[in-house]
Amino acid sequence: MAIRLGDTAPDFTAETTHGTIRFHEYLGGSWGMLFSHPKDFTPVCTTELGQVARLKPELDRRDVKIIGLSVDPVADHRRWASDIEETQGVALNYPLIGDPDRSISEAYDMIHPNANDTLTVRSVFVIDPDKKVRLTLTYPATTGRNFDEILRAIDSLQLASRHGVATPVDWRPGQDVIIAQSVSDQEAQERFPGYRTIKPYLRVTKAPG
Ligand code: BEZ
Repeated sequence: MAIRLGDTAPDFTAETTHGTIRFHEYLGGSWGMLFSHPKDFTPVCTTELGQVARLKPELDRRDVKIIGLSVDPVADHRRWASDIEETQGVALNYPLIGDPDRSISEAYDMIHPNANDTLTVRSVFVIDPDKKVRLTLTYPATTGRNFDEILRAIDSLQLASRHGVATPVDWRPGQDVIIAQSVSDQEAQERFPGYRTIKPYLRVTKAPG
């Protein structure tokens, strides 16, 4: 069954390049990013896994635990890792799940049979500290993802969680944010003094925090 926003991220125990991992235990009280790639020893995936390794300090700064997955076995992930380091100039620094029986891929609906009946699509799940799924994204095998956009979305999600604000189109950290419609004008005055009303439903304020 498809995983929807607000659902609890299914727990699982998996073999990974970092040993056996129990997913919820691995996440602890942190945020998480679970992402799948279709196949080891393929070009787009090689670039994506290198880029995620490069961005790990940014994900650490946001307290996001990373974990990747494909239906290939862990032994293949380990052999491929040296190619990633050689070609992308960065070593894998997060666990990769081997899911040859596809149990996790199926639990997360990562196999879309009309696209490919055996390989996972490029899925991303951002999970909050309560283990709720807060963002999902699905790309096809031929399109590498933009992980800067995922970082930007995580910044937005974390602001929403901490301060009850929303972020407008193409928002970047540091830019003004939108006060949620659930916040009354009186509460907005107390929490966001000096906020601007463009329309009664469109109130903006400096990014808190
Ligand atoms: C790739 O990563 O390049 C790729 C993987 C599976 C199918 C097509 C492309």
